[in-house]
Amino acid sequence: MIYRYLVFPALSLLDPEFCHDLARRFLKIFFVIYLLKMRKKFFGAPTMPTHVGERYFLNPLGLAAGFDKNGDLAEAAYLLGFGFHEIGTVVPEPQAGNARPRVFRLVKCKALINRLGFNSEGLVAASAYIDQFCSKYGGSFPFPVMISIGKNKDTPLELATEDHDRCIQELIRFKPFAVVINVASPNTPDLRDLLHGDYLRSVIRSGRTSMQMGCSLHSVDMPLLFLKSSPDMSRQGIVDFLEICEQEGVDGIIGTNTTTDHTDVYEFKHGHQDGGLSGKPLMHKSLAFAEVVRESWKGIFIYAGGISTHDDLKDVRENYGADLVQAYTGFVYEGPNFPAKVVEGK
Ligand SMILES: Cc1cc2nc3c(=O)[nH]c(=O)nc-3n(C[C@H](O)[C@H](O)[C@H](O)COP(=O)(O)O)c2cc1C
Repeated sequence: MIYRYLVFPALSLLDPEFCHDLARRFLKIFFVIYLLKMRKKFFGAPTMPTHVGERYFLNPLGLAAGFDKNGDLAEAAYLLGFGFHEIGTVVPEPQAGNARPRVFRLVKCKALINRLGFNSEGLVAASAYIDQFCSKYGGSFPFPVMISIGKNKDTPLELATEDHDRCIQELIRFKPFAVVINVASPNTPDLRDLLHGDYLRSVIRSGRTSMQMGCSLHSVDMPLLFLKSSPDMSRQGIVDFLEICEQEGVDGIIGTNTTTDHTDVYEFKHGHQDGGLSGKPLMHKSLAFAEVVRESWKGIFIYAGGISTHDDLKDVRENYGADLVQAYTGFVYEGPNFPAKVVEGK
């Protein structure tokens, strides 16, 4: 209530990315972390026990990739009550991303448009943040964490797998439950070419080989291999994508990333901005993706796209076969009570 009617309207007057930076600083303050710990201790975390294969999740709602690009907000996600978390997308070398402003709020339709372009502090910084987090919890993640990896903007597509390899070799020692290869961002030129044909096969094959090598080097168990997908493919494109993923032994799909199709939001302020659209207006495209997944995918499926209520969560799990669900934009609009609202309908 306080967030929705007081804090969010005040924040809406400020640049969205500036707000994110503020939130990021705020969520790392020792006292705030302490308060979140106390809240979790006395009120408990939102609970909806969920099993995916042998893995247990306190609840099926995760914070989607992009909010915690470098791994320094994983503790906040844990204490806020998300059932799992995705760090990243991490790229090997630090990069600034596109010029600001590059995040826009479409308040009337509860959406965001972003063209961040994988702004990242890079692999060394991410590794240090994750190390710090794990050290606080006895050397490993206290809840299931996935790590999303990608390529630097300047790396040619043909060499993308080398960037993936560098990230995997460094980060696999933290024992994420899955490594997610992100080939679905619309804000890195040509990246989505990796969603198709031989490019896709080579990304998956080399990703798996890197993971095997990393696991034996660090003596850790093999995490799952996930791919993140785009809502901007034709039905046949999705079918082909899933077929290659199945043939190449991918364990899970995350669908979807943001869309470049702004048809539904042109009437709103900022609706014409370039970039990926997320939130409510994305939902029908993500559901269309999920429908194809339900028909032809036997592996794990994590749904993302416009989740903001308990009914949304139930719908995608019961009617679209989602094992788990992720959200980003809904959290931005609803604030700290978001996990309780979505998981328990509070
Ligand atoms: C500002 C912003 C940054 C994002 N950055 C990433 C990213 O780095 N990697 C990624 O895989 N997805 C990224 N995403 C996509 C989200 O993870 C998610 O797939 C998408 O926003 C749909 O979910 P939503 O409608 O709940 O926001 C980003 C989304 C937003 C809004």
